[in-house]
Formats: sequence, structure tokens, C-alpha cells
Amino acid sequence: MRKQIAAANWKMNLTFQQGEQLLNNILAAPTTLKENQLVIFSVPFPYLTMAQQKLNGKKNMFVAAQNCFNKKNGAYTGEVSIEMLQSIGIEYVVLGHSERREYFNENNQFISEKINICLENNITPIFCCGEPLQIRETNTQNEFVGKQLTESLFHLSPEQILKTIIAYEPIWAIGTGKTASNQQAQEMHAFIRQQIAIKYGNAIANEISILYGGSVKANNAKEIFSETDVDGGLVGGASLIANDFVTIINALK
Ligand code: 13P
Repeated sequence: MRKQIAAANWKMNLTFQQGEQLLNNILAAPTTLKENQLVIFSVPFPYLTMAQQKLNGKKNMFVAAQNCFNKKNGAYTGEVSIEMLQSIGIEYVVLGHSERREYFNENNQFISEKINICLENNITPIFCCGEPLQIRETNTQNEFVGKQLTESLFHLSPEQILKTIIAYEPIWAIGTGKTASNQQAQEMHAFIRQQIAIKYGNAIANEISILYGGSVKANNAKEIFSETDVDGGLVGGASLIANDFVTIINALK
């Protein structure tokens, strides 16, 4: 049974103290996590250890880094390696976020190298894909996302792809308050699952969690998560508000 996941992406928001307070508030609220449901907090690097300490002993709750570099170690001032993350016990890393692609020129090849180094070190990548508005307007989103999958993921072995989480985040829906409709989300998630099935077979495709990201809010999460191929969400803005994120966690199916 594939995992249903509520993943918070704090991006470059909150001070350390605000982050602590937010986690305290979320953890104090009643959440009803089933065996197949996970919560992942993707926090800024300086807060990773603090977040891990807060989640210590919480079943089905994990901390993720928001990025890592594609090299093992060396003279790369300012970068963070997978070995560093591993040495503090991090198990998940968000990769290929559209903001990294846009502001830091990350391309599919570079992201595939980061995916490799994660999986080689037993860390689960949360691979983000999704099209910009002009692609959606020309109705070529399947080709666009298909290429992202082919160039960054489809070289993986079946065992490796099984360890990967995918997040579909249409760029036009990120931070805009303009969520994809349920139908748009379901269509793309089904397309992604179908591509995985063509490459790796149905059994593997059915095991992989595909999250939706882009203006997931407390008042729309349940509806989006109810779609057959939507296995939860990667949440930006609403994950910074304790009550809203708790509602989103409780909206998992
Ligand atoms: P918003 O939820 O703020 O639209 O951000 C989505 C996102 O980019 C999560 O990674």
C-alpha cells in the first residue's frame, strides 16, 4: 500500500525561534496518522537538528533537507553534501524544486546527479516536477513533465525508483493561490504513474507516492487528496500556519 504524505516545505521562511514555535504548535495538536501516512517537514539547513529533536519519538514524522549538492565532498563553498545530511540522520531531501530550477539554473541532468547521490546513500529524494504556465497554455504539459521524468529519474533501477517520492508542482499554482483543479491534478498524476508503469511495470507504479504541490490549503486539501492518484501534498505557504497544516495532515486519505 503506497504512502500518503503531508510534506511541509518551509522554503526560506521563519527564524529559528519561529520554526520551533511552529513545530511545537503542530505537535501539540491532535493528528490521526494511520500506518500508511507520513508527515515530512522540509526545513532550512540550520534548523534540521532542532526539527529532528522535536520529532524525536514521533511515529511517521520525518525531517527533510530542501536541497543537497551533487558531489560527495570537496571545495564547494556554501554547499551541503549528502554525507553531511546523512551524518546527522536525515532521511529525505527535496530535489528539483521549480525555485531551484528557476533561480539557480538547475537542469534535469544536474538534478539526476543529485538523485543518484541520494539513493546511493540511502536517502529518499522527493523529486519535484511540473510545468510553467506557457506550457500549460499550449497543452504540452505531458511532454514537458515526461521529459523531466525521463531525464532525471528513468535511469534508476526498479529498487531505486521504489525509494523515490515524486511531487507534481505546476509552477503556475505555486504561491499564487491558483490551485490546479482536481481534474488537472488527477490527470497529471495518472500520466506520471502511467509513465512509471510503462518503464517499470504496474506493480512498481502503484507503490510510488505522487504528491501534489501548488496552493494546497486547509480548505482544499481534502478534495485534492481524494483523487485516486494524488497521495498527499507538498505544501508551502499553508505549512507555515500550524492550524492549517494540521488540517492538511488530517486530510490525508
Ligand atoms: P505553495 O503551497 O505556497 O503554493 O508552495 C508550493 C510549493 O512550492 C511546495 O514545494
